[in-house]
Amino acid sequence: MIKFVLSGIKPTGIPTLGNYLGALKNFVKLQNEMQDYEFLLFIADMHAITVYQDPKELKQNIKNLAALYLACGLNTDNLTLFVQSEVKEHVELGYIMQSITYMGELERMTQYKDKKQKQAHGISSALFTYPSLMAADILLYDAKYVPVGDDQMQHLELTRDLANRFNNRYGETFTVPEPLVSKKGSRIMDLQDPTKKMAKSEEENKGCIFLLDPPSVIRKKIKSAVTDSEAKIYYDKENKPGISNLMTIYSSITDLSYEEIENKYKDKGYGDFKKDLAEIVVEEISKVQKEFEKWYDSKELKQILYEGKCRASMFARSKMKKIKKLIGIGY
Ligand code: TYM
Repeated sequence: MIKFVLSGIKPTGIPTLGNYLGALKNFVKLQNEMQDYEFLLFIADMHAITVYQDPKELKQNIKNLAALYLACGLNTDNLTLFVQSEVKEHVELGYIMQSITYMGELERMTQYKDKKQKQAHGISSALFTYPSLMAADILLYDAKYVPVGDDQMQHLELTRDLANRFNNRYGETFTVPEPLVSKKGSRIMDLQDPTKKMAKSEEENKGCIFLLDPPSVIRKKIKSAVTDSEAKIYYDKENKPGISNLMTIYSSITDLSYEEIENKYKDKGYGDFKKDLAEIVVEEISKVQKEFEKWYDSKELKQILYEGKCRASMFARSKMKKIKKLIGIGY
């Protein structure tokens, strides 16, 4: 039986440095370490529309994200890359998952609570039931591992609960998945407000580095990142969230430990550190951008997405047949 590692990203804007370090770069690393697993990665466009997206922009974002997945260096040999809405079983199982999810479970989700706090009116019911669809995305393929940033952990916990609940009600059906969170980079913070997660949906973009930002913009954003007045470089997330966040970015890209970075910048100030960090980030992202140009609009990308849709559908169709039979729906 094929063993799957599965993950998805929403095409709600250009992916950020947070998406890169917390997810994309980690996928590449895991792919090298877990060669006997097949990687099922997708563009979560059904999740994106839980909040209104301009149709033209959404199309563009889907295309960008598809090319960025590959530009990060994934090995296409054991990769199935697809667009979520093209495999209709996701929504079908999503509905079934909704029917075993309790209201109280969804009300407890911090991502939903945050959004509700920011926006009192006009929250879609799909935004509320979103975690049930995410559970379906994972369980449909019996994925064993799900690499995500730490903001998705609560959704993963719910997915595990739903898998167990279904298995108890209807008999052993789903693999209970396990999250894989990278040690570093699983929570990159906003450069202007390091108590907030770096996110593509923030209106103020100064604190968020996007993977398609030109080098000059990246340098500027890092230069103006908020730090503190102590001007000493050491890791202390509580008291020095700004510099600690920059150290996390530094460490995730170079693989140097916090201690090594502290030693390296023992006698230096924030200015020197930021200048070096900017170059490190620019170099890393420039590589991705160069690859992006090759993949974007390429025939290969179209073909990979087509094959991905066919292959994912094949697994999804056969799993749905079994699920429906177990539940007793259909004639
Ligand atoms: P999304 O699109 O918000 O984020 C995609 C991935 O990037 C990670 N991430 C971060 N990591 C570190 N620092 C940050 N600042 C940061 N921001 C985002 C996220 O943790 C995630 O791994 N619901 C998911 C998409 C999804 C999914 C799935 C994921 C739908 N179905 C099934 C896994 C399995 C989401 O909104 O991710």
